[in-house]
Amino acid sequence: MSLIAPSILNSDFLHLGSSIHMINESDADWIHLDVMDGSFVPNISFGLPIVEAAKEITEKPLDVHLMIVNPEKYIEGFRKAGADLINVHYEACKDKDLIAILKEIRKSGARPAIALNPDTPVQEIFEFCAYVDMVLIMSVFPGFGGQKFIEATYDRVKELKKFLNENQLETLIQVDGGVSHHNIAKLKSCGVDVMVVGSVIFNGENSIDTISELKSLVN
Ligand code: DX5
Ligand code: ZN
Repeated sequence: MSLIAPSILNSDFLHLGSSIHMINESDADWIHLDVMDGSFVPNISFGLPIVEAAKEITEKPLDVHLMIVNPEKYIEGFRKAGADLINVHYEACKDKDLIAILKEIRKSGARPAIALNPDTPVQEIFEFCAYVDMVLIMSVFPGFGGQKFIEATYDRVKELKKFLNENQLETLIQVDGGVSHHNIAKLKSCGVDVMVVGSVIFNGENSIDTISELKSLVN
C-alpha cells in the first residue's frame, strides 16, 4: 500500500478550511504543504501561518515541503507551527552541513526528509539516506502545481529503491508533481511509498471520490 498526501497548493485559498475538512473526511493519509519563497523557486506560496492554521483543524500528519533557500533557519518555526515531517531540498543545502540540518529536524521532534530536483543525480543523496525518514524525488521542476509528469522519474525511483534495499534502509520514497490516475500504479510498482497529488484532486468534480480512486489504485 502507498500513502496519499494531497497538496493544497491548487486548492481554493478562500476556502482553505473546507479543503482541509474534505481531506480529513477522505482516505488521504497526510496533508502536503508546499512552502515557496520566490528565491529557491520562482513562485511564492505560503508560510508558517497557513501550516499553523491547518494544524488547528486536522489530525492528519502535516508533510511540509520547504522550497526555500535557507531551510535551516525555519526548522523550529515549522515544527512549532505543527509540521510532522520537514522536507528540505538537497540543492538548497549543498554548501551547508546537511547532516547537521537533518539531525536538527529530528531533534525538533519532526521527521526529517530530503527532496531532490529532477536534474540532480539520485546518487548524490545516497550518503544522506540513513539520516532521513523519506526521500522526495520531484517528478516536475518545483514551483507550480499542474505540470506534466517527467517520465525519467520511474528509473530514478528504481535506482533509489535498489540502493535502499541493498543497504537495508527503510527510508520512504515520495514522488511529487504530475501524479494522476495514469501513473500512480506504475509509480507504486517502482517502489514509491508516498504519492503527493495536487491539481488532480482540486481541479476535479469530487475531491473525496478522486482521493478514494487514487488510493484504491495503490492498494
Ligand atoms: C510543486 C509542488 C507540488 C504540487 C503538486 O512544486 O511541490 O506539491 O503542488 O501538484 P500537482 O499534483 O498538480 O503536480
Ligand atoms: Zn510539494
